[in-house]
This record gives sequence, structure tokens and C-alpha cells, in this order.
Amino acid sequence: MNSEASLIEIRGLKKSFNRDAVLNGIELDVKKGETLVVIGRSGGGKTLLLKHIIGLMRPDAGSIRIAGRDITTLPERELDQIRLKFGMLFQDAALFDSMNVFQNVAFALGEHTQFDTTEIKARVEECLNLVGLKGIETMWPDELSGGMKKRVGLARALAIRPEIMLYDEPTSGVDPLMSDEINTLICQLSDQLSVTSVVVTHDIEGAFAVGDRIALLENGLIVTQGTPQEFRKNGHPLVREFLNQGMKTQWEV
Ligand SMILES: Nc1ncnc2c1ncn2[C@@H]1O[C@H](COP(=O)(O)OP(=O)(O)O)[C@@H](O)[C@H]1O
Ligand SMILES: [Mg+2]
Repeated sequence: MNSEASLIEIRGLKKSFNRDAVLNGIELDVKKGETLVVIGRSGGGKTLLLKHIIGLMRPDAGSIRIAGRDITTLPERELDQIRLKFGMLFQDAALFDSMNVFQNVAFALGEHTQFDTTEIKARVEECLNLVGLKGIETMWPDELSGGMKKRVGLARALAIRPEIMLYDEPTSGVDPLMSDEINTLICQLSDQLSVTSVVVTHDIEGAFAVGDRIALLENGLIVTQGTPQEFRKNGHPLVREFLNQGMKTQWEV
């Protein structure tokens, strides 16, 4: 571990439901500017981990420091401020069906900025361009393919220029070609916008495509982590299982 402070620092994070421990003492660091991928089985607690990082869920124990500040004990009002640092791409993109693409992408700008109409229009256009979707402002969510929905969801997450992007299964439910495009996009956004990213996935190929580091979540713990290079040589049985079966299990969510 180098001396550079972590932007996200998770210590002893625990969460149980009906006495079943889903997160059982997570220790994880994310450095500023890096892309960390958390890989693990379906139902293993990956989404739950993201919900804790963004403060949507309170842990039973442990701490989550964002830029040095423990968010687990913050009152809701202060959490709202911290959440503005984050953009999140939800697994199903979670677009508002009653709003068109423009309204979806503009949503947070109306809520959290003093932007006038011209500024909002410019930012929406900029974000749609960033995800490779020009001129689709007047389309409706039900007119979009799965991949387009994900990209609009991404544009919406980027609208407030987050410092940290969280991606929940960014390539699930889209075809392999679109998966490659989305992975490329995650890398580009990380480079161009210097965002820090946490990606959770059960898609090992995607993990290698975007991760500066990969961490494996199993039985509520981060059991091993390393660079993609280190990970390929990792002897942990579950890593071997993922590497051998990654392509086959890609479609099971
Ligand atoms: N709000 C909740 N209430 C009860 N159980 C939950 C809740 N959120 C998550 N869980 C449970 O935690 C486990 C992990 O869920 P999740 O984080 O969605 O897994 P993953 O994203 O890795 O597939 C699941 O067994 C799920 O039922
Ligand atoms: Mg999930």
C-alpha cells in the first residue's frame, strides 16, 4: 500500500438481514483516479456494497470514509451533499419511464444546480455526446435498446460531473458487442474525466477490460485482490473458477 490517501476507505463493514451476514467485515480501498472492480457471485452482496458506499444503506458495523469523512454516521442532510460526489449507473439503468431522454439526463441538474435552460441544454448534449448518443433527446425510454438505456443512464449519472462513478453490472443484459462498447466507455470516461470508479460485476472479462485492480467478494469478505495481471496468476480457487467459467456464467444474473 503506498502512502497516497484513499478516496474511498472501507473498514470492517458488516450488514446482515434476518441474521444472515451478507457483508461480514469488508476491507477495501479505492485510490483517487483508479478503477476498482469488485467481482463475485450473484447474490454475494455486490449491489449492497455499492448502496453502502453511496449512503443509501446504513451498515450494522464498520466505517466508510469518502475523502477522509466517515459517511456511516452522517445525518441524512449531510449525506445528500456527499451523494453529489457520486454518479451511479444502476443495473437496469433505472430511467424514469415517464420522462424522455432529455428530461432523464437533465433531472439532477434541475434538482442540484442553478443552471438556466441554455446551460442545462448544453450539459445534456455534452453528456449524451460523451456516451456516443447524439440527438436522441426527444426519444422515450421504451424506444431504446438495452445498451442505449445503459448509456442514457450513464449520461444521467455524469450530468453533475461526479468525482466518483459507481457501476452496478454495467454489461449485464446487453449483447457481447455492446458489452465491449460499454467497457470501452468506462475506460474512456475514467481517462477523460479523471473520475474514480467502482465497478461491481460477475463478468470476469469485463473486470479485466476496465479494472486497474480487481477484488473478489466471497462470503461477505474481500478474499483476494490485485492488478489484472496478478489476478490472472492468482491461485485462489474461486478466481480459477471465475477464470474458467467466466464466459459461460456471463449471462446468469
Ligand atoms: N434490503 C434488503 N433486505 C433484505 N435482504 C437484502 C436487501 N438487500 C440485499 N439483500 C440480500 O443480500 C444478498 C446480496 O444481495 P445483492 O447485493 O443484491 O447481491 P449481488 O448484487 O452480488 O447479486 C441477497 O441475498 C439479498 O437477498
Ligand atoms: Mg447486484
